[in-house]
Amino acid sequence: MTPDSLAMVKIRARKVCRVFNIRNTRGAKEGLSVLERFDLDVNEGEFMSLLGPSGCGKSTFLNILAGLDKFDSGKITVDGEPLQEQSFNRGIVFQGYALLPWRTVIQNLEVGLEIRHIEKKERRKIARHYLELVGLAAFENQYPHQLSGGMRQRVAIARVLAYHPDLLLMDEPFAALDAQTRENLQIELLRIWETDKKTILFVTHSIDEAILMSDRVAFMSSRPGHIREIISIDLPRPRTEDIRNSAEFASIRKNLWSMLQAEAQQIQSYGGYL
Ligand SMILES: Nc1ncnc2c1ncn2[C@@H]1O[C@H](COP(=O)(O)OP(=O)(O)O)[C@@H](O)[C@H]1O
Ligand SMILES: [Mg+2]
Repeated sequence: MTPDSLAMVKIRARKVCRVFNIRNTRGAKEGLSVLERFDLDVNEGEFMSLLGPSGCGKSTFLNILAGLDKFDSGKITVDGEPLQEQSFNRGIVFQGYALLPWRTVIQNLEVGLEIRHIEKKERRKIARHYLELVGLAAFENQYPHQLSGGMRQRVAIARVLAYHPDLLLMDEPFAALDAQTRENLQIELLRIWETDKKTILFVTHSIDEAILMSDRVAFMSSRPGHIREIISIDLPRPRTEDIRNSAEFASIRKNLWSMLQAEAQQIQSYGGYL
């Protein structure tokens, strides 16, 4: 038995297919196969990245897990139970950073805690703890519009962590940030994950981000998406910025680059039609 087979499986996807009904360029209806025989196991407490070319179906898979989209065939279990029977609070999508504009920063953090009926004093305590973790303790009484984009994203991260889901689904959470903020938040998220050890499924199209963060990287084919290969990232933790300059990092990056390149060429041979 490998260590992987001994670990508890959090998410298991088998032969998942998703076909969208679209209209082609002539206006006729046709099926667009986005996920095809998609198989994936994510272990309990694992940081797993889903990496693949644009349009390969990464967000589609995350949306399905979050209950925002359905799948057409195959099987998905979370904690061994079919996805359909999951309660809302088992997973949470981390995307778009929709903060409530009429609530202050701290009140935004408390939303999920209110849903869980956590008592007011305790709510405040938890919210403050996570605001401190993302370095925004001084801003608790500001409104979202008074913050920069990067700060709003930090609030959104703090909010999702305060809610304490045992599964975090993150769809390119740092993609729109400037390089400096992105790097800071990557390290911050890692630090929090290293204490919390929640399961994270993290979608990215950035090779460096995937290597820096993950225990394993699930590399997807171009559409119709399926898992091409799973790469274990055996770099030591805790990981810091310095690790990007190591020879091991460079060699993993090179390997993933050529895989992504090969997929990109395949997309071109489809005539660029995504
Ligand atoms: N609701 C939808 N209806 C029709 N096509 C969709 C829908 N959602 C996504 N697609 C298509 O599915 C493909 C995969 O999309 P997506 O999962 O967003 O890719 P990724 O996140 O990997 O970039 C794209 O070709 C996209 O146009
Ligand atoms: Mg996407």
